[in-house]
Amino acid sequence: MFNNWEELEESIKNCSKCKLNSGRTNIVFGVGNKNADVMFIGEGPGADEDKEGIPFVGKAGQLMDKAFIGLKINRQNVYIANIVKCRPPQNRVPEKDEALACLDYLRNQVLLVNPKVIVLLGSTALKNILGEEHSITKERGIIINKKGIIYLPTWHPAALLRDENKKIEFWRDLKELKRVAEDLKLSI
Ligand code: URA
Repeated sequence: MFNNWEELEESIKNCSKCKLNSGRTNIVFGVGNKNADVMFIGEGPGADEDKEGIPFVGKAGQLMDKAFIGLKINRQNVYIANIVKCRPPQNRVPEKDEALACLDYLRNQVLLVNPKVIVLLGSTALKNILGEEHSITKERGIIINKKGIIYLPTWHPAALLRDENKKIEFWRDLKELKRVAEDLKLSI
């Protein structure tokens, strides 16, 4: 556990705890407000993110940005990170050992940010954060309170690229996030 961001980021840059380190161009650490009330957690970097070292800058991220703009969610006000910090080959889902190797870094980020609400983007985020028994199809849009944090699972933005209905549901879930944020007077 690191008490400062610089040491945490440095340790990830030097990380070789799993096989994903061999294929990375850059680690994708996280971006946004380090004191955010609301944190978003995705799966892992794609090609664009690997190139730039910033989460959600590719097609899926641009779609999420559009929803943010439409719903007046300021990307600069929230913090965005991923389950794994290095790109899985061919954008495959991170394997269990890879996610486990990386999870302490994410836990450290959550401790430092101390968010009130965490939006879990897709099944990989939901299962690795709340447990394998959870299901994104059954639980998206439903608030889960656990250990003083409000979790809101929703579709991964990449899923929206393939399915119009999911776009509508994602939008609805982010509206729910806005409602919660307004109720609790959170900055978003
Ligand atoms: N998909 C993710 O899960 N995270 C990113 O940063 C980009 C795409």
